[in-house]
Amino acid sequence: MTESWVNSAERIGADLHLELSGPGGRRATLTRALREAVRSGRLAPGTRLPPYRSLAADLGVARNTVADAYAELVAEGWLTARQGSGTRVAMGVPPTPFGQSGRAEPPRHAVRTPVKPVKAPPRARGPRHDLRQGAPDASAFPRAAWSACYRRALQQAPSEAFGPGDPAGRRELREALAAYLARARGVRTEPDRIVICSGFAHALRLLFGQGAGGVLRGPLGVEAYGLDFHRGLLVTAGVRTVPLPLDEHGARVDVLGRQRAVLLTPAHQFPTGGPLHPERRAAVIGWARARGAVVLEDDYDGEFRYDRKPVGALQGLDPERVIHLGSVSKSLSPALRLGWMVLPERYVGPVLAAKGEREAWASVLDQLALAEFIVSGSHDRHVRRMRQRYRHRRDRLVAALAAHAPQIEVTGIAAGLHAVLRLPPGTERSTLKAAAWQGVALDGLAAFRHPEAETTAGDGLVVGYATAAEHAYGAALEALCGVLPPG
Ligand SMILES: Cc1ncc(COP(=O)(O)O)c(C=O)c1O
Repeated sequence: MTESWVNSAERIGADLHLELSGPGGRRATLTRALREAVRSGRLAPGTRLPPYRSLAADLGVARNTVADAYAELVAEGWLTARQGSGTRVAMGVPPTPFGQSGRAEPPRHAVRTPVKPVKAPPRARGPRHDLRQGAPDASAFPRAAWSACYRRALQQAPSEAFGPGDPAGRRELREALAAYLARARGVRTEPDRIVICSGFAHALRLLFGQGAGGVLRGPLGVEAYGLDFHRGLLVTAGVRTVPLPLDEHGARVDVLGRQRAVLLTPAHQFPTGGPLHPERRAAVIGWARARGAVVLEDDYDGEFRYDRKPVGALQGLDPERVIHLGSVSKSLSPALRLGWMVLPERYVGPVLAAKGEREAWASVLDQLALAEFIVSGSHDRHVRRMRQRYRHRRDRLVAALAAHAPQIEVTGIAAGLHAVLRLPPGTERSTLKAAAWQGVALDGLAAFRHPEAETTAGDGLVVGYATAAEHAYGAALEALCGVLPPG
């Protein structure tokens, strides 16, 4: 006998690889192989072994041979046999560390050697009041609807879906997104112009990464305020970013010059909160056409507008000049890591080349579930529900400030998952300190300012009103009002 890969254990949930070699008869060989598997830790304490009959059939030996081998190992203390729970690897058998041969001594028994508990490293506790921007209400993830869609997607998926994934993304999802984005965001596209990715950050990496020569190059115009994390990604990719000043009409696109591309948040400037003025929307498209440049539209929270219907995507003005980027990070959860790039035709090939031969980032099964989530109407229902919830949260924030800190103004449009509170000049740092003392986590505007920005948006707080769970939000607001500076 040589090696054997035993399948009989499948019914009890474990494959069994046994080295059936060496001197002696079948019983001795099998006993030695099992002992070695336990001793080395390949068969973990508590693992249930296959019943005699199935292991005997798989190995082509008599049932008694298996029964005798098990009995011997039970007697030695390597295995335990109990009526009703079959034969298992004894608890407390210390495996020989990998790489050490060690002698095959029987354990000083499953003798319940007290196992010294290994202490998990301490985990950072979350803040008492979480008003950080960036996340939807995690407690509102639509677990039931998502799992129903996931189940349906799994049941209906053709077998080829379980093979390597197309780097463009599943067609089902690209079709669902093309229809959804046209209907809800005014995006003009077709499934073949959509490439699925694992979110906005991944899209930036694909567009500006060095792999496949890079799809786009800097210098890149960016808004003077934005996420430091995204700027960091660009710096890592060697892209020079040029900050565009912001005023009450949004980014000053009139100062764009020789940049090859510009990255904007037109629906709701992140984080200052204004929309890009219609004239500037037209102007930036005019600039891109004149210079052969491209506009990257970060539509991170476009579904969430509370005072009116959301303004349509900039991409609708010129699908050949705008790359529209979206993800489920605000609408559903940043944990899913699913996003999309809606591309002008000339970029589809280069982006696919940057992605590689097969899907390596976005789980195909999650893609199918999201397609089902959109097509079944669950996505619309969820977004509408969250829109109401976040609108209510924003109203509560405004009302709390009016009642307890009327000197503090909320700026920006009623949209998204965060608001900016304008602070008296010179008070941002001390307010953040006071907030930290009271267990209130939130950011100041300064954290978002481009290091080379020539203008400043002044002192302010960026309040993420979606992050806290519903039951915790009232206390968070109260704590916030308690740390705001007097007028
Ligand atoms: C400004 C901005 N853009 C894009 C995103 C989405 O990023 P991602 O899709 O990588 O989670 C976020 C965060 O959700 C954001 O704050």
